[in-house]
Amino acid sequence: MADNSQNQARHVAIIMDGNGRWAKRRALPRAMGHKRGVEAVRTLVRSLKDMPIECLTLYAFSSENWKRPQDEVSDLMNLMRSFIRSDLDEFVANGVRLKIVGDWRALDSDIVDMLEDALERTRNGTRTVAVALNYGAQQEIAMAARAAASEDEITPESIERHLFTADLPPVDLLIRTSGEVRLSNFLLWQMAYAEMIFVETLWPDFTPRHLHEALDTFAMRERRYGGR
Ligand code: IPE
Ligand code: IPE
Ligand code: MG
Repeated sequence: MADNSQNQARHVAIIMDGNGRWAKRRALPRAMGHKRGVEAVRTLVRSLKDMPIECLTLYAFSSENWKRPQDEVSDLMNLMRSFIRSDLDEFVANGVRLKIVGDWRALDSDIVDMLEDALERTRNGTRTVAVALNYGAQQEIAMAARAAASEDEITPESIERHLFTADLPPVDLLIRTSGEVRLSNFLLWQMAYAEMIFVETLWPDFTPRHLHEALDTFAMRERRYGGR
């Protein structure tokens, strides 16, 4: 029989896309779109306390985003700095456990220091917010396969133990905003059986209501995992 008893998403992943188009439509600089995108993140993370989700993974910066103009990359990094400064206390107070996935140690050393401090301060949180920073799924899988091969046979299980997300449940639901219908090198392994929802909303306009709607849609999906 089909298994639709698991209609509660434990792990939701979001590709937060469309900041640039949001700004362009308003004839604003792209940086303003990114700034409003951060505000959407803040509101969404606040709303998690009323939702049964255990883990939310947010794609903030891909390993391919270095291809963007240097100005934009530094705007994004500065937003990261100011977000940690302004929101870390609230994360701690709200029981958020921050996790970073990706090659984040290659970022500027002051950001690495801030993130290390943030990880330490949030480590007892009960609800995980994972931020994908300098993240690429193909790179992650190659890294995990190398690590698995050095100590064991390569199997799905041994690879999985070396992924950044080894301590998280698989992704149940992926949401991508802005109308693009692609995965852009995000959590390819972890999404093997994820349900996917693509919405037209641009990321800065995404609200907790949109997440509730996606969870309602998810609850009606029938997941089969290859069975019947
Ligand atoms: C998503 O918005 C933010 C990042 C990729 C960092 P974009 O900047 O990709 O916005 P669009 O896709 O150009 O509208
Ligand atoms: C994916 O969005 C990365 C993030 C949201 C951080 P992009 O805007 O970089 O993806 P592509 O280039 O349209 O595939
Ligand atoms: Mg984009």
